Amino acid sequence: MATLTSRKSFLRWVLRHQHKLKQMVRTCHLKVKEVYGLDEYRNEEPESQETFKFSELTTKLADPDQLRLKPDVSELKFGQVFSDHMLKAFYHERLGGWQKPVIIPFENVSLHPAAKVLHYAIELFEGLKAYRGKDGRIRIFRPDLNMNRMNSSALSSGLPTFHGEELIKCINRLVQVDQEWVPHKEGASLYIRPTLIGIDGTLGVAKSESALLFTILCPVDSYFDGKEEGVSLLADPRFARAWPGGCGDRKMGSNYGPTIRVQTEAIKRGRQQVLWLYGPEEYLTEVGTMNIFAFYIDDKGDKVLATPPLNGLILPGVTRQSIIDLALEYKEFRVEEKLLTMKDIITLQRQNRILELFGSGTACIVSPISSIEYMDELIEIPTLQQKSPIFKRFRDELYAIQYGHKKHPWAMPIE
Ligand SMILES: Cc1ncc(COP(=O)(O)O)c(C=O)c1O
Repeated sequence: MATLTSRKSFLRWVLRHQHKLKQMVRTCHLKVKEVYGLDEYRNEEPESQETFKFSELTTKLADPDQLRLKPDVSELKFGQVFSDHMLKAFYHERLGGWQKPVIIPFENVSLHPAAKVLHYAIELFEGLKAYRGKDGRIRIFRPDLNMNRMNSSALSSGLPTFHGEELIKCINRLVQVDQEWVPHKEGASLYIRPTLIGIDGTLGVAKSESALLFTILCPVDSYFDGKEEGVSLLADPRFARAWPGGCGDRKMGSNYGPTIRVQTEAIKRGRQQVLWLYGPEEYLTEVGTMNIFAFYIDDKGDKVLATPPLNGLILPGVTRQSIIDLALEYKEFRVEEKLLTMKDIITLQRQNRILELFGSGTACIVSPISSIEYMDELIEIPTLQQKSPIFKRFRDELYAIQYGHKKHPWAMPIE
């Protein structure tokens, strides 16, 4: 009898409060989406079968008097000197889509003043490198992952997609043409910057009916000069780089401009990079323009390598994926894509369970982190105090693959 009464009063309570329950369910659903970025469209494939074709590529070589002097790579700052040629492919919907790609002498780009790229930052880019191996062969590293990311960025920007393998072949030809620009110094490389911009001369905020894909090349020196130094970070929860439902997982120029002010603030405070946090939980997302990894001992005493999941806030880094793939092969510790909060890092550090924190990216491969300034406190991270740090193992192995010391399918020779 008592059960029947309590069930009846429970049902009455549910009827009275159903609107609140529905609201709660909705909020929970949104919360899950917010944390895990469960947006259905995130993984959609580019539907377009349209593409430019490598078989239609033509090359116009620079005249001898147009060739530039190749500078000493050790004196170069990133992205200041460019090679002799560039790749270009136009897209015009009214002319049937992608036009034939061309390799031409490096030149300025001329744009209509109303071009969408200039007003609404309709643009995306990629970053990969060509490495001259110890055997003299030039290799590029997992370019298919860059192509997938480029097409995802294009979809999110209303720019035309294309077949990744066609651009890889065109880029390979461009690197071949400018092969003497690939530094003859191990550790140095030729940075490849494919870019896609909306060029319609109309001010409407709309899908681009005209676009320009171009690729430029610049030699860069090694990130390391032998001595190992840890990076110091500023973590300020007032700033966010990306948010759920946004485009933080796309390599669009509009994600980078707004980070400059915060990066300048970090430098002013004597730190080198920004540790980007998100939300009231203060989730760690990325470090500057790198993905972040934590290597620590969990509460059961097991070693774990963790990096945030691809929840819409994280750029799907090629180096990030390669580190996860290598770590899974090692089978020496647990590898997890999981959310980490600032509170987790502080607890791990106080309990002497954090071993290493490091960033990963094409520019540096792996960059060890030594401290985080957070709420006027300096949290020291013992990454460089480890006897045989895991970050160094990943760096050495990726370096060996990129420079041909270790044969691996990720490093594709340019024939
Ligand atoms: C925001 C951001 N995160 C992470 C990365 C690292 O990505 P990748 O390893 O592909 O260079 C980059 C660099 O492209 C970046 O700009």
